[in-house]
Amino acid sequence: DVDLGPGPSQRPLEVVIEGLRRLEYRGYDSAGVALVGPDTEDVAFAKKAGKLVNLRTELADRSLPAATAAVGHTRWATHGGPTDGNAHPHLADAGRLAVIHNGIIENYSELRRTLAAEGATFRSETDTEVAAHLLAREYRAAGDLTAAMVATAGHLRGTFTLLAVHADAPDTVVGARHDSPLVVGLGEGENFLGSDVAAFVAQTKEAMELGQDQVVTITPTSVSVVDFEGRPAEGKRFTVDWDAAAAEKGGFESFMDKEIHDQPQAVADTLRGRTDADGRIVLDDLRIDEAVLRSVDKIIVIACGTAAYAGHVAKYAIEHWCRIPVEVELAHEFRYRDPIVDAQTLVVAISQSGETMDTLMAVRHAREQGAKVLAVVNTNGSTIPRESDAVLYTHAGPEIAVASTKAFLAQITAAYVLGLYLAQLRGNKFPDEIATTLDELRDMARKVQTVIERGEYVRATARSMKDADKVLFLGRHVGYPVAMEGALKLKELAYIHAEGFAAGELKHGPIALIDDGQPVFVVVPSPRGRDQLHSKVVSNIQEIRARGARTLVIAEDGDDDVRPYADEIFWIPKAPTLLQPLLAVVPLQIFAMALATAKGLDVDQPRNLAKSVTVE
Ligand code: G6P
Repeated sequence: DVDLGPGPSQRPLEVVIEGLRRLEYRGYDSAGVALVGPDTEDVAFAKKAGKLVNLRTELADRSLPAATAAVGHTRWATHGGPTDGNAHPHLADAGRLAVIHNGIIENYSELRRTLAAEGATFRSETDTEVAAHLLAREYRAAGDLTAAMVATAGHLRGTFTLLAVHADAPDTVVGARHDSPLVVGLGEGENFLGSDVAAFVAQTKEAMELGQDQVVTITPTSVSVVDFEGRPAEGKRFTVDWDAAAAEKGGFESFMDKEIHDQPQAVADTLRGRTDADGRIVLDDLRIDEAVLRSVDKIIVIACGTAAYAGHVAKYAIEHWCRIPVEVELAHEFRYRDPIVDAQTLVVAISQSGETMDTLMAVRHAREQGAKVLAVVNTNGSTIPRESDAVLYTHAGPEIAVASTKAFLAQITAAYVLGLYLAQLRGNKFPDEIATTLDELRDMARKVQTVIERGEYVRATARSMKDADKVLFLGRHVGYPVAMEGALKLKELAYIHAEGFAAGELKHGPIALIDDGQPVFVVVPSPRGRDQLHSKVVSNIQEIRARGARTLVIAEDGDDDVRPYADEIFWIPKAPTLLQPLLAVVPLQIFAMALATAKGLDVDQPRNLAKSVTVE
């Protein structure tokens, strides 16, 4: 739906704008494009603060020259606020060279001083602009854009994907990659570069992964890769296994709404092909020796945000089924606390994007200490699986809304598969117990669908609560990470202060927060569960109700015990407690989405966030 009005060949620009539209979830503080063509003396460019629509409005009013190559960028500000001037591209070489950048250049201030002393004029507050001036200097010395990019990469510290175009080479784009993502799309008579395949999937499904520390040069008919020493290198080809329509709203009001509805499919697809007719788990795609998995004596799950809550669910399941101690740690904390990790430790890194820098750095740290790393990742061609010993892909399909939903359910499903697989491998459980649990797991997609179909009651409740300024969430056992995820969704989407607590912890402090009318969600475990878990949670509901709370209870069909103490009940189908998170979180997702919508907020692109945080 890109309409740039009448004009000369704008195919490169159209492709770039379309790519930015698909990548906007990665950052939406500002956006910009640059293009070169047969008649461009200088780079033509446009950049605007705010969402992509601002750039498109700006472009609609401009007449741009015919282009043979274009680059575009959508920003999540690190150095320098989100202004027009700090938006990318950044220009150098008297306006003949343009650079865009993802990442952080750590030594930018010293480079900036040196380059300024050499006569470069800086026009922004960004770290990126030094890369533009540096590339211009190296280009003047080398006379070749690829060689100049190799030399530039050698001067930079930090993390970066850089893309550059120069008016001297109007059919060429050069890219460099160091610890930030970059994927090549292979077309016919045209080639593409993007931070992920979503950027070009509407044009081609043939793609190539680049390794770290590589420079790639594309023209309409060629792709060549060298390393940071300038020696020839190879990328790894793959075919994208979803098509562009999967990353469209498909008639839903928002990507988030669509992705909530995709959840039964995400659960089913993540299980598909991983079990055999005898009720055993088959993980042929796991590139890790079974002997290694048998000898593991500790598991550490590392992840950030929603993925970390999936990790908490994994802990309960894996410890119960496998009797292996499992720790769960935020990836950014893990790396800096000098963790105890050795060759018998299995580190499980969970990430939707496969690009979260905090998680990637923790993966590297774990491997340096001798641990084996198994990645649970949704995005093919991303960095974390490439740098891990093994990978278990979740098959949620592309997730566009910034707040994670279907990827979360797929991560939890993958965690169950992993737990059952380890139990099977290590002989912890009788085979029939694994088979029974697998049967129950196979039935979960259908039950998720049922919860979604009951969504209207949740929406209506959310609409009635749009003026709430504080909401609490309680859960025990696997209900605890569900409570934390429910609170996170509400913070992210509705900007409401929300907090998830372990229900048992309530009396040790948080209960002081309860006063008249305070909304509290409570996730109630299955009454058929073990150790009076259920009755303990029912007591917690009574305790808060006695202090005036408005109780919003998520309970299993037929659980009459909660009725007397619940102001609202969101019923979910019966399921074993360990599997219940797949169901219990769904009303909380719908609640946060509906409340944010009622407040008039953009649920797909909440303020200040980005989906794929590729800086530390
Ligand atoms: C960001 C997103 C969260 C996401 C987290 C981890 O903070 O806003 O929604 O859960 O990153 O992302 P990952 O891609 O590693 O799962």
